[in-house]
Amino acid sequence: MTTSIDPTRALAPRFALALEAEFGAEHRDVDPLLQWSDRADLQANCALGLAKRIGEKNPRSVAERLVAKLDASDIVERFEIAGPGFINITIKPEWLASQLSSRLGDPRMGIAKKSAPEVIVIDYSSPNVAKEMHVGHLRSTVIGDALALVLEWQGHSVHRQNHVGDWGTPFGMLIEHLLDLGETRAVEELGVGELNGFYQAARAKFNESDAFKDRARKRVVALQAGDKETLRLWKILVDESASYFATVYKKLDVSLQHEHIAGESFYNPWLQSVVEELEEKKLSELSDGAVCVFPPGFVSKEKKPLPLIVQKSDEGFGYAATDLAAIRYRTQTLKATRMLYVVGAPQAQHFAMVFAVAKMAGWLAAPARAEHVAFGSVLGADKKVFRTRSGDSVRLVDLIDASYDRALEVVNENSAHIPEGERSAIAKAVGNAAIKYADLSSDRVKDYVFDLDRMVQPTGDTGVYLLYAHARSRSILRKAEADAGVTVPAAGSRMVIEHPAEKRLVLQLSKLESVLDEVAATLAPHKLCAYLFDLSVHFNKFWDQCPVIKSEGDTRATRVALVAATADALKLGLSLLGISAPDRM
Ligand code: ARG
Repeated sequence: MTTSIDPTRALAPRFALALEAEFGAEHRDVDPLLQWSDRADLQANCALGLAKRIGEKNPRSVAERLVAKLDASDIVERFEIAGPGFINITIKPEWLASQLSSRLGDPRMGIAKKSAPEVIVIDYSSPNVAKEMHVGHLRSTVIGDALALVLEWQGHSVHRQNHVGDWGTPFGMLIEHLLDLGETRAVEELGVGELNGFYQAARAKFNESDAFKDRARKRVVALQAGDKETLRLWKILVDESASYFATVYKKLDVSLQHEHIAGESFYNPWLQSVVEELEEKKLSELSDGAVCVFPPGFVSKEKKPLPLIVQKSDEGFGYAATDLAAIRYRTQTLKATRMLYVVGAPQAQHFAMVFAVAKMAGWLAAPARAEHVAFGSVLGADKKVFRTRSGDSVRLVDLIDASYDRALEVVNENSAHIPEGERSAIAKAVGNAAIKYADLSSDRVKDYVFDLDRMVQPTGDTGVYLLYAHARSRSILRKAEADAGVTVPAAGSRMVIEHPAEKRLVLQLSKLESVLDEVAATLAPHKLCAYLFDLSVHFNKFWDQCPVIKSEGDTRATRVALVAATADALKLGLSLLGISAPDRM
């Protein structure tokens, strides 16, 4: 087994040994509480709690005893006891240098896959058929994709599940409208992404004409009864929408593919048995003719128990029944132990109730768990929910196109030296980086203001800043090779870390694994964003203070290695956010 490049991880087993040797086997697993620190490189804060545990009044002396037993001279330059018993740790530059050297060229940067991977379902994006993808779907799509990429990279087996809204009463009016338009015309409209117009026209006719309403109702009945011709028409709507969604995903460069669609209709065959199982387990009851479950703890404003409606009085199944069937399928068929629902905060109660009922029914039992990965709204400059001037919700494609246009301006301005053909590819990366990073870098549960002008800036906490840091690091490497014939040293080459800026950069590099673990645990991609931003800042300082090509010998080799490791870490980190980083800009 290789030791981790991360000193907190490399030191943890050393602490366990010292704890056991000095305080006895029962204290071996005391968490050393190793943290990054501004005062030294690291800090271990376990002495205070341990003193309490063993009834020792003076935590400083506990810290001293612990340090005396710590065998870590290969990693640690010095331990210092501070304040009431904090242990400040300075890491040996030689150790950092050898860690850096051993990881050179490793595409995983020395980070192993998880030894006990989980099966994880991520339910995300999930737009509705024959309805436009709007800015709310941006967040689900971008956050869900980042989580999928991170968890998959860690070695988990990830099932992306695009829970497309492709069933239910609106399909009556949508199919009838399709017939009115004629199939060819309908396909044309849907194919070019005129989903809003299509849906609104159907809705308008439904509201205005009783005859149309009647046709729509009959059509829903035929659809639910499995009428062949009706299903064929329904499938046109579903397929056209799916291929439209695919074009949006492609533009946005997300990893969702057609095979990830498991829409609401996918669960139709099991809805009846969901109801039956709930009845058998005596969990459901009839309320106003509807089959309901009243999970304990959910009450209305008037303090009345709240029902989760599983089957309506007209015998139709709704959104909740589908989600119950989905959770049962995910735990029992897919064998998932972790399920993430990346859906806006307004659906919090729905998911809390679905999870509660699934637990009552035994479909969601430890170790399996479900989490609603909620997120806030995208706001306009006026701090209100982002809308077009006419008050409609903003189409996701329009937003992507607008960011591409702005990105192209920025690229034309900053990268005039690059041939035009390549510039448009760069603009695509810049546009996507701008929107994705702005979305991912703010705390997921908070609202954020969509400000394209700020988002495409090459300076400040933006995705574009990170792309430039990455491209700069690549260009340094190209230049080192072209001007001085210096290439990135091979793994195992001798390295020396001397300058404080070198040390800070290598320490920052070593944090990546912990950061990814935190993202996975807390489902907070903004922590990876913050890490990459800090990495770029440290890199820029290093670049400012430490000449690379003009230095010599081991120093030059080390600096080239640091540039390469930073470039690789940025590229990897960005790719896990779903952002592709061009090698030159
Ligand atoms: N289609 C729904 C919407 O647009 C989101 C579905 C979320 N996923 C789920 N399993 N309910 O609001």
